[in-house]
Amino acid sequence: MLFVLGLISLLTFITWQYYKKTKLPPGPYPWLFFGNIPELLYLSLFEKLDILEIYQWLMQKYGKVFTLWLGPMPTVNICDYEVMYDVFVRRGNEHSRRYEVPFLCLPRSDNSGKIHGVMMSNDDLWNEHRKFIVRVLKNFGIGKGIIEDRIMDEFERQFAGVEKKMENGSATIDFSKLVDLCIGNTINRIIFGYRFDEDNYKNFHSVKVPLDEAYANVTTFHNFLRSWFKSLPYLNKFYDNIMIPQEKVLKFAEMEAKKRHEAIENGTYSLEGEPMDFIDAYLMEQRRLGGNETTMNDFGLYTDILDLWVGGQETTSLTLNWAFIFLLRHPEVVEKCRKEIHMATDGIRDVRVSDKESTPYVNATITEILRLSHILNLNLMRETIGESKFGDYTVPAGTKFSPVVSVIMMDPKNFEQPNQFRPERFIENPSKAELVVPFLIGRRVCFGEPLARNELYLFITNVLQRYAIAEDPKCPLEKEVRVRLDGWINRVKPYKMKLTKLN
Ligand code: HEM
Repeated sequence: MLFVLGLISLLTFITWQYYKKTKLPPGPYPWLFFGNIPELLYLSLFEKLDILEIYQWLMQKYGKVFTLWLGPMPTVNICDYEVMYDVFVRRGNEHSRRYEVPFLCLPRSDNSGKIHGVMMSNDDLWNEHRKFIVRVLKNFGIGKGIIEDRIMDEFERQFAGVEKKMENGSATIDFSKLVDLCIGNTINRIIFGYRFDEDNYKNFHSVKVPLDEAYANVTTFHNFLRSWFKSLPYLNKFYDNIMIPQEKVLKFAEMEAKKRHEAIENGTYSLEGEPMDFIDAYLMEQRRLGGNETTMNDFGLYTDILDLWVGGQETTSLTLNWAFIFLLRHPEVVEKCRKEIHMATDGIRDVRVSDKESTPYVNATITEILRLSHILNLNLMRETIGESKFGDYTVPAGTKFSPVVSVIMMDPKNFEQPNQFRPERFIENPSKAELVVPFLIGRRVCFGEPLARNELYLFITNVLQRYAIAEDPKCPLEKEVRVRLDGWINRVKPYKMKLTKLN
């Protein structure tokens, strides 16, 4: 009897899988229960392809819109700019629903299972928090110069430290650590109102590094993670590795918010006037809303902070780490950038964001850095709310899908010799810059884009204006600087760089 029941279930499952496959774009045939995981493992372990190469390989075989089964779950991958534009911009409203992938949703869920924050949430909660954060960032002066002053203040402090260590005008620095502090402090000052320095760097490090590691090691397999994994031997490690670092940030955020509450209660801190940081702004908004229906509760504050941390640190730090790898390897590009920077500032003042208009070559260089560093190998998934059309294919409601921006930005149809670092391609054809979309496009576009772009511009130009850059003579760059990970983040190994003060 049991055997017959098992057989019926199996046949039902095979029929369901077959039926489902006929409704989706082409892709490798899924194995029972395991989907295309065996193919992914084969390509990774035996063909030694990294995640980007695997997606490029699949695209060549099945076309620019293809289906990949992650276990029993089919996912549609969009590797074509035109289709992505159509889905995410022209019909963006229909396609902004986030697929609630458990390993990211679990730490962001309250006791009733409702997902908070802005990165993984949907519907009214997402709308309220996204609008609020965008407004706060705007009020803090993204694009108004206030944030620019903070970025430059952080830059000055970090490089004052470097200059103190210089001998005969030169110093070799742990570049990755310096960038981490510079970018980390900019976002920390926005969120918490204070910065980390050499003395309390350990506190920052102990929360940030495990979080970066956790996200960097995320692979396709994490999609299967469920809360009951934590009670299973061996698999609980898998769970802890990704969950504990996120919970640590939430605890850190909670501690900071509680300190602020206490200070307000004992009268040593006041919420009058303009908010000094994100916590102030959030508490003021809670007060303003009073008893009205709102999702702006305390847990919402902690999860918003987690999302700002996750979104606002490693992404920009990694891009800067990649930037200087490309620059170290392309002195001719450095020379051209420096010449342009010198013309814009007459060599007598720091570079400002307003100089962007007179530095087209630098802008092209940053676009090329963003294209080639493609720090997100894979993007977060969405879910269709109704039947939809992706290019030539119609997909049913509830289909999980995502654009593969890394593959799109390496498409030889749009970028000749895509693996080459060649900023000139955007000088020869400026409209190509629009096809570089590391922040995505559409309704769920990264709202940190203006901040990140300003950080990249100010950091790169002011370093190039002040210092000659060179590899550390004692420890030159390895040929392969990339950490070969099959995860979703394109990481670079930490490295040192020699800076020599220019006159
Ligand atoms: C070079 C730097 C950055 C890159 C490449 C980047 C990339 C992205 C991308 C591709 C997305 C969309 C994810 C998706 O829907 O699939 C995104 C969303 C997001 N980013 Fe960024 N980002 C960067 C910097 C920042 C900064 C500085 C912040 C914080 C101020 C930030 C916060 C966020 C948040 C919270 C989301 C989720 C938004 C939502 O779902 O509504 N990012 N980012």
